Amino acid sequence: MKKGTVAWESPSNIALIKYWGKIGRQYPCNPSVSMTLKNAVSRTQLSFSERKDKWINFEFEGKENLDFAKRIEKLFEGLNDELPFLSQYSYSITSENTFPHSTGIASSASAMSALALCLCSMEELITGSKLERDEFLQKASFLARLGSGSASRSIYESYATWGGSDAFSKASDDFATPFSKYIHPIFKDYQDYILLVSSKKKKVSSTAGHGLMNNHPFAKTRYDQANSNFEQMLGILRSGDLENFIEVLENEALSLHGLMMNSTPSFTLMKPNTLEAIELIRDFRNTTKIPVGFTLDAGPNIHLMFPKKDSNKVDAFVNEQLTELLEDGKYLKDETGLGPKQIYTAGGE
Ligand code: DP6
Repeated sequence: MKKGTVAWESPSNIALIKYWGKIGRQYPCNPSVSMTLKNAVSRTQLSFSERKDKWINFEFEGKENLDFAKRIEKLFEGLNDELPFLSQYSYSITSENTFPHSTGIASSASAMSALALCLCSMEELITGSKLERDEFLQKASFLARLGSGSASRSIYESYATWGGSDAFSKASDDFATPFSKYIHPIFKDYQDYILLVSSKKKKVSSTAGHGLMNNHPFAKTRYDQANSNFEQMLGILRSGDLENFIEVLENEALSLHGLMMNSTPSFTLMKPNTLEAIELIRDFRNTTKIPVGFTLDAGPNIHLMFPKKDSNKVDAFVNEQLTELLEDGKYLKDETGLGPKQIYTAGGE
């Protein structure tokens, strides 16, 4: 086959148990579990044609992006064993997000998972043989992991784990494992409002952030804690125990930020308004008994998580008390999503 085009839409995800620390070929130092989002997605199209001088051209939202092109080049170079045909073609890749960038939503998770799915579709076009759906997704998750660890989990709908653990025999370091069939009904349409405290570029990239765990004085304790929180979280996702859900969720978020604060060099990624909002969220929960909890990624923005049935009351709380702490009063409403969608595939001589 001389040329072809494939395209996928793939979502971001929010980690409930955080991946923080990696070794070797992008293997996680502890297991993680995440909720796949619905509205925050990347749409990526990959066209391949006979190899020319320029190997990879990458455009993000209509503009050439050399940094990401380099990252893709490095990824492709490392995939010789898995996809030996990659070096025979040149690529024109375009990608766009449904969410504004620099909102703190992990765009590498959605972009890298969409790209990995495109590579799997390309392989099917070139070889003319189709994998079973489960195998296809597992391969996509494996490739996505090599692009960005958290991207491995975006391949699956609703909830997914990544990283081997005694608590879940199907879990693996190599790829994510779907967890949706074990989920209690309360978590099937769980809400995640992303509160935009600041859209400024992060002071530390995720990759550099993971590096902070090398020689971190609390690394071993953290990995023990993450394993224990992971086991508890899987039990909670099955049982629907919201009180413990919130306890473990917030413990993970603040542990992540604690680790960044006491690593060398040290980073404080929360802003004063992040802390203020956290206080208000906890006060609201204590007085109303509405089970709303928060988590954070490696940035200042807050993910407010709660059951769908409480949406009206939480909307009122956010509008009355939290928006004044947010950049331009902005927040994005998201919820549990159904996973990636294939948009297009065609090849020819
Ligand atoms: C805090 O997956 O972005 O969001 O593998 O280096 O691309 P790389 O890192 P990345 O790290 C995500 C870190 C996190 C926690 C999580 O999503 O589990």
